[in-house]
Amino acid sequence: MAEFQSVRGFHDIFGQELKKFRYVSDTVRSLLKLYNFEEIILPVVEYLEVFQRSIGEVTDIVQKEMFVFQDRKGRWLALRPEGTAGAVRAYIQNRLYALKPYVKLFYEGPMFRYERPQAGRYRQFHQIGAEVFGTLDPQVDAQMIEMVHTILTKLGISATIEINSIGCRVCRPSYKKALSDYLEDVVGHLCDVCLDRKDKNPLRVLDCKVETCKEAVKQAPKMVDYLCQECATHYETLKSYLDMLSIPYRENHHLVRGLDYYTKTVFEAVSDELGITIIAGGRYDYLVEEMGGPPTPAIGFAVGIERISMLVKDLPQEEPLYMVIPFGDTLDYAFEVIKKLRDMGKRVETSYKKANLKKQLELANKLKADYVVLIGEDEKRQNTITIKNMHTGMQESISFLELAHERL
Ligand code: HAM
Repeated sequence: MAEFQSVRGFHDIFGQELKKFRYVSDTVRSLLKLYNFEEIILPVVEYLEVFQRSIGEVTDIVQKEMFVFQDRKGRWLALRPEGTAGAVRAYIQNRLYALKPYVKLFYEGPMFRYERPQAGRYRQFHQIGAEVFGTLDPQVDAQMIEMVHTILTKLGISATIEINSIGCRVCRPSYKKALSDYLEDVVGHLCDVCLDRKDKNPLRVLDCKVETCKEAVKQAPKMVDYLCQECATHYETLKSYLDMLSIPYRENHHLVRGLDYYTKTVFEAVSDELGITIIAGGRYDYLVEEMGGPPTPAIGFAVGIERISMLVKDLPQEEPLYMVIPFGDTLDYAFEVIKKLRDMGKRVETSYKKANLKKQLELANKLKADYVVLIGEDEKRQNTITIKNMHTGMQESISFLELAHERL
């Protein structure tokens, strides 16, 4: 065993897994550009307060999942557990609201949560997040959900998009009260964590994974029945837009999300294969103001790259690999050929080993070459190359001139 292991929950990404990771990331990034989002690179570290204030003091993330430390001057810092808080901080600090009527940003990078590692759950994981600041129009909500749908379709992933509205400052208090009253009647069935949540953050009881809690909240009042006129209209309009766009969705009246900043629309894409959430988001219309900015409605979502990568089945075909094998005193000519091939945009590997043809072909097979380019004294003299298709075994000789005319 190696002397050093990576830290628990922190993983190396390479090989096939990395190919899937990049495929997911590239697909999402190119789509974000089509929707006119601009990239922002955010710091991995923020002042602890940025997360406490935004995500909420009584959330799992802030209470027990953050990597928190003091710098040399004794200031409390944290590794970011998610991207929205930093994006809001950056939006305010850089006065991005002064630039445009609304601002569409995306970011990509590692996030850190001290969770119990398991399949698809890491302590360092990666997200691509998208945030729109400055509009309350349900068109944007619909567009964000449409993007989630398109991402899933493009990547060939089967998932169900769940939506809910969790109301606003006006209507949520009366719902919380109704829910608390209901929970009081079923206390005997709640787990210890939910007994604590029941008073501090009753909405969270709705998505507890413990069986008895799940059973106990089945008959709980629904937020949709308590929405104020504005929230109800917003939610109904959103649904009508989703229908216009032919986006399939399922209403989940118990969808509440684990972060406190949400208002009105919340949504999640849940994998049909694994039953885990792979993309999640929602509105947060008060957060910018609560963090010291001008009142600015906003909405966003984040894609969990590792979780989606796990579900990707087929990768697009890779560029074929050409393996150039020089024999004898031909290195000068081989260098010319290699350069030409790379100039043509071909993926090229060279054999650094001196060996006979049989051994070289074995090596090419191990490196998964699609073609080998054999260069011997004859080829050098005649200005040709011998190219062998490793899949069909077909071999042909072509002149360097033909190569220069990009016959391959
Ligand atoms: P979240 O639901 O906490 O939302 O995370 C979004 C996604 O990140 C999850 O659906 C999942 O795919 C992935 N994820 C979360 N934790 C882990 C983990 N420990 N290991 C692997 N993947 C994980 C947010 O972070 C919000 N900031 C989303 C948002 C943006 N809302 C508005 N704007």
